[in-house]
Amino acid sequence: MEKIIEINQLTWQYTDTDHPALEDVSLEIEENMFIGVCGPNESGKTTLVSCIKGLIPHNFIGSYKGEVRLFGKNIRDLNAQELAKYVGFVFADPEAQFTSMSVEEELAFGMENIGLGSDEIKERIQWVADITGLESLLDKSPYDLSGGQKQRVAIASVLAMQPRVIILDEPTSMLDPIGKDSIFNICARMKEELHMTIIMVEHTLDRLARLSDRLILVHQGKIARYAEPERFFENVGELLELGLNPPASIVFLDQLKQAGLYDGPMTTSVEETIEIAQSICARKEAIK
Ligand SMILES: Nc1ncnc2c1ncn2[C@@H]1O[C@H](COP(=O)(O)OP(=O)(O)O)[C@@H](O)[C@H]1O
Ligand SMILES: [Mg+2]
Repeated sequence: MEKIIEINQLTWQYTDTDHPALEDVSLEIEENMFIGVCGPNESGKTTLVSCIKGLIPHNFIGSYKGEVRLFGKNIRDLNAQELAKYVGFVFADPEAQFTSMSVEEELAFGMENIGLGSDEIKERIQWVADITGLESLLDKSPYDLSGGQKQRVAIASVLAMQPRVIILDEPTSMLDPIGKDSIFNICARMKEELHMTIIMVEHTLDRLARLSDRLILVHQGKIARYAEPERFFENVGELLELGLNPPASIVFLDQLKQAGLYDGPMTTSVEETIEIAQSICARKEAIK
């Protein structure tokens, strides 16, 4: 598959700080992948995705070494419009993105800015409203919605621009469990039906792992691990040292491994973990 994001030996330090926020980071992301990004607070996750979106270095002051290439082009050579075409960005706080008095206007805003015609805009509004479940809310003010609905509007307005890559930076961190669910469901639809490249920074690790083709662990400005979920969760002790709290099923399976009762793959699925535990119990019963 085509490598669409390439980061080569990137070091970035925000102005007036005493250490780099990212240090000597190299990373390749292939098209149509769902990439989950995790790591402790202040480890550099937002900085990393801001570099992929080009917000750094375009909108921030600091020292930049190395390069980020998007679809083969150096990000420093891309203008704002080209960047918007390639990468959409959803923030933790959806309201930070709002500019309009109705959901429909909010969805149209970005598309008007890139000069789409009104028929195309109408079609795309129907399309994103269907994917994000906003059909009945188009007339409402985005400010009157629940947290989860607001975040769905923010995602829909980015999706409407049909970027090649969509980045979501902790999109569920301000939401209640129902709101969180709705965002994970939309992410699953985007992955399965739209085949987009999706990069999601998220603390709810078990849900993130189930969606992700690859997981990235950011630790003190470096990529500490980049692997498929099954391999990512090997060596739980090391993950804990790197400040990551693995999901309960991973900790449980790790304990079984250490007790010599299990040597299969790691999974974050509760159903699969129960099956594993049941088959171990059945084996023990049979030995008795
Ligand atoms: N705008 C900024 N100016 C100065 N320092 C920043 C800025 N944004 C982030 N940092 C610093 O960069 C480091 C990484 O932060 P960040 O990328 O936001 O981490 P995360 O998203 O993992 O919590 C932290 O030490 C943070 O204090
Ligand atoms: Mg962050």
